[in-house]
Amino acid sequence: MSVVQISLQAVSVQLGMQAALTEVNLQIMAGERVALVGANGSGKSTLLRTLHALQLPTQGQVLQASGVRQAMLFQRPHLLRLSALNNVALGLWLDRARGLRWQQAQALARLALQRVGLESVATQGGRQLSGGQQQRLALARAWARQPDVLLLDEPTASLDPHAKREVEALMAEFASSQERPMTLIWASHNLGQIKRLATRVIYLEGGRVLADLPTTDFFNPAVLASHSPAAHAFVQGELT
Ligand SMILES: Nc1ncnc2c1ncn2[C@@H]1O[C@H](COP(=O)(O)OP(=O)(O)O)[C@@H](O)[C@H]1O
Ligand SMILES: [Mg+2]
Repeated sequence: MSVVQISLQAVSVQLGMQAALTEVNLQIMAGERVALVGANGSGKSTLLRTLHALQLPTQGQVLQASGVRQAMLFQRPHLLRLSALNNVALGLWLDRARGLRWQQAQALARLALQRVGLESVATQGGRQLSGGQQQRLALARAWARQPDVLLLDEPTASLDPHAKREVEALMAEFASSQERPMTLIWASHNLGQIKRLATRVIYLEGGRVLADLPTTDFFNPAVLASHSPAAHAFVQGELT
């Protein structure tokens, strides 16, 4: 059964003089793995921020199914000057809805660090970790909150190839988890990663959605070209 988790209806976002998004219509279904592609400035970050309610639409509506929990990751994690463990624990402890005691928050944080393979650096400063470890720590922090939808803005763009693969593997595991499969929505320039991980690809240009296709169609040049010459030209440009 398909459950709509987030729906955008004719959403436009104006940032200063710039139309960052124009008339975007979108339905995100539970369990989808949606990749956002497009050149710099095409509106990927604005769309993610709008989906996560960090940005209000200038026009149109963003509808969230009730009870859907979301978390968002950025290209560079925002970490506090605390141990890796407490970077995760603090967010859990501050979440009034959960009402956890500090010890409980730390116990849950320890589980989250295990989930991403960082238990051995639990007492090290979060900001002292390598770039790949920091991004895994951000993933642990998101995982601990048990979101239904995980949004990620170029999560592997600043990582070395090994760390890229580790983060990608965790995204795949989160999405296919038996107990709590997460819907993934992420911006990426990595077409290989999108092919491996996405079920659906959305191509943006100048703040408009010009293609929204199942991954197999998106990577079929004939299908993509007939659907959106602009998206086809973009993919060919990325491959050369
Ligand atoms: N804070 C801002 N103020 C004004 N314009 C912005 C701001 N942030 C982004 N923009 C503009 O909005 C458009 C979309 O940007 P963005 O969503 O960051 O694209 P992407 O993530 O695809 O690179 C671009 O033209 C960008 O210059
Ligand atoms: Mg961006």
